[in-house]
Amino acid sequence: MGNGFDFSVERLAGTGVPGGKAPASESGGYTGNIQETDVRVGHYKRSPQDGGVNAPLQNGIGAGTFYLETFGCQMNDHDSEKVAGVLLARGYKQVERTDEASVILYNTCSIREKAAQKVFSRLGEYRTTRKEGQVIGVLGCVAQQEGEDIFERAPWVSLVCGSASYRKLPELLAQLEAGEKRITGLELDTDETFETEITRRDNPWRAYLTIIEGCDKACSYCVVPYTRGPERSRASASVLEEVRQLADMGYTEVQLLGQTVNSYEDPSARRIRFSELLVAVAEVVGIRRVRFTTSHPRDFGKDIVEAIETVPGICEHVHLPVQSGSTNVLRAMARTYTRGEYLEKIALLHGSKRPISITTDLIVGFPGETEKDFEETLSLLDTVQYDGAFSFKYSPRPNTPSLKMDDAIPEKEKSRRLAILMEKQREIQRARNERLVGETVEVLVEGKSKRENQWSGHTSSNKVMNFTSPEQKLLGHYVQVRVTGASPNSLIGEHTKV
Ligand code: 5AD
Ligand code: SF4
Repeated sequence: MGNGFDFSVERLAGTGVPGGKAPASESGGYTGNIQETDVRVGHYKRSPQDGGVNAPLQNGIGAGTFYLETFGCQMNDHDSEKVAGVLLARGYKQVERTDEASVILYNTCSIREKAAQKVFSRLGEYRTTRKEGQVIGVLGCVAQQEGEDIFERAPWVSLVCGSASYRKLPELLAQLEAGEKRITGLELDTDETFETEITRRDNPWRAYLTIIEGCDKACSYCVVPYTRGPERSRASASVLEEVRQLADMGYTEVQLLGQTVNSYEDPSARRIRFSELLVAVAEVVGIRRVRFTTSHPRDFGKDIVEAIETVPGICEHVHLPVQSGSTNVLRAMARTYTRGEYLEKIALLHGSKRPISITTDLIVGFPGETEKDFEETLSLLDTVQYDGAFSFKYSPRPNTPSLKMDDAIPEKEKSRRLAILMEKQREIQRARNERLVGETVEVLVEGKSKRENQWSGHTSSNKVMNFTSPEQKLLGHYVQVRVTGASPNSLIGEHTKV
């Protein structure tokens, strides 16, 4: 993070650590404080129940061992936690090198073409290096989207499995061991993913919890409705029961996940609203912070703002993707709101008595986007004053309605617009963060630098804070930090005693 503050965070328990670098890839990037599309090799701490059943090594490969790499969003990170949980519970051991693993799994992302290409280039490495007896499996969105075609493109792959079938993974692997050559698990309309008996979590303080799977919104550019199926919400009692268990295990922060998390509809007779669920989760003894992502503007209402205003445990941050500032483009994207309607939601957030940080997703170069449309996106940034934004060049995706739209924008022009957008947003963030200098904020301490007395964590508003403290044992604690400096992507501070 080129912010003049050379801070290297020690990786603590695997991945998902604070301050995770945001990608500044050709196709887009993040100007903000949260982590996005990246590649992670998750490593999950083992408990005694996990192992002991593994056969001796053959070929350098441990039988019953798996390597798991994750591409994509937080939903994928959490899915990988579930996959690891399912396999560890069946006696598999997790290893960190592909050449030691009997099963190599890639949990994939297909939201943009670059992400999907990355998966195939990774798979290509095994054309010649795959060891005898190794199973190579593709999980997640690319698996769901490409299905059995993956076997054509990469014949050394023997397992293709979508997110709704992860619970069946041990059975699918057993079938491969019994001699089957190729296996798929591609059903979509099951909510089994919620019910894994054991989920490993790779951050010792923050637990992710899916409350709604799939998406019904059908934005014209997006593969998610095809790869993750229709919306299915999880019963509120089951969510709350899991939150209580997480609190008992020592987690203090819970992040509720869903592609459209605020479209949550309690399927049980209680029928509690999303905002009521937020409050109920925050009330669980031991839970200090509740986050939620991603919110869809159409279903975003005053009740959510009121919940944040009145309940300190609900974090003061809303991720509300706008995609474009032009009503014409929003219509072509089938986003179901106009610029004006989106700004009404923003007015609710700006009107909150408790300051709420707002982040967003933006797409430039959607088919037919004129210079004037693009300028409307730029002016929206001025109006909203986002604290962070993921910005992407439009990427045509298979099966989506926008694939057939006319007036494609040339790559070079998309890149030009993206660079302008990101630079503008960077300056907005610099100014917003600088305004915080002198304030004291609460930070959950998640990282310790190799450099003495240097720590890092997140504020309730989800900003990355790098700070100094002479204390020795801060990890997992909530501390008060005075902001002494700022850059577009993070804050600098000093631990204060209260
Ligand atoms: N092209 C570019 N960006 C996309 N996104 C989703 N689909 C596409 C696409 N085809 C972006 C949106 C979404 C985020 C997760 O990814 O901004 O909010
Ligand atoms: Fe994709 Fe739109 Fe659903 Fe988000 S709301 S996952 S962009 S279809």
